[in-house]
Amino acid sequence: MSKGRLQHHTPAYENAVGQFGLPYHLEMIRDAERTGRICAALDETLKPHHIHCELGAGTGIFSIYAARRCKKVYAVEKDPAILEFARENIERAGLKNKIELIQEDALNFQPPEKTDSLFVEMMSIWCINEPQIPVMNHALKHILKKDGQRIPMSITNLIELGHYDFGALEVECKTSTAQFTGITAPRIMTSSHVFNKYDFSFQNPEEIAQSIEIPALLSGTINCARLSSLVQLSPSITFYSTDSLMPQTIVPLQNERKVKAGERLRLHGAFKLRSNVDEMKLMV
Ligand SMILES: C[S@@+](CC[C@H](N)C(=O)[O-])C[C@H]1O[C@@H](n2cnc3c(N)ncnc32)[C@H](O)[C@@H]1O
Repeated sequence: MSKGRLQHHTPAYENAVGQFGLPYHLEMIRDAERTGRICAALDETLKPHHIHCELGAGTGIFSIYAARRCKKVYAVEKDPAILEFARENIERAGLKNKIELIQEDALNFQPPEKTDSLFVEMMSIWCINEPQIPVMNHALKHILKKDGQRIPMSITNLIELGHYDFGALEVECKTSTAQFTGITAPRIMTSSHVFNKYDFSFQNPEEIAQSIEIPALLSGTINCARLSSLVQLSPSITFYSTDSLMPQTIVPLQNERKVKAGERLRLHGAFKLRSNVDEMKLMV
């Protein structure tokens, strides 16, 4: 059975085999915003003498790009289906002597030598669903040299509050959804605020609970949050959101609240990584 588009973005990594099908990989490859920015970050980061590592190498596209700009690449992927596809791509590119393709869970991988640079793109919205944070935590300890270069350098999670019609006609469907192109946006009633930041110079926690103050800009009933993530890929290259990577995501709040413009709201938020956006708790 074919998968809905949203399921592309919510893989269950415990059963990851074939989880990201080729149609989603093609969508990611053909997303020029995503591909262009990642290539620009690799250009800015890689040096000809670098030993580089990509964790979650997928189709191999960025390991191939990296191998043309550095000395050696370790490309680690745990899904055997996409790994075989990457192997064909690497052979066709004539790079099998430069790229060591390894089928392993990134969380267990330890290279024979620590690497000068690292690229990990297991990024879902707020990094809740995909294992970006635990994998970066592992890589900082066991893979990357102390002064090594990491892509991304940090990810900042942003939040706006507003009102959303979770339905149409006589049907209500109160759940989170990605705001893909063509999906109606919520009525946004606050500016965008930083909820938390993952700085990949350090180990990051896997459970986050905190409250922040957000002033309402408009009056009305607040019932949803819109989440986005700002990725600092390399010193001068950022990535925000596209349909194929970290699309803005609308999440129902646990409560509804009538507010007046200018009112200062306290937003309480809690979530666990390696879970699902639907499991997060957001209240005003
Ligand atoms: C969003 S895709 C990006 C892949 C790659 N950057 C590309 O452009 O093809 C993330 C990849 O990470 C892999 N992955 C997820 N968890 C992993 C883990 N624990 N160890 C190794 N690979 C993993 C997935 O199978 C998937 O191929």
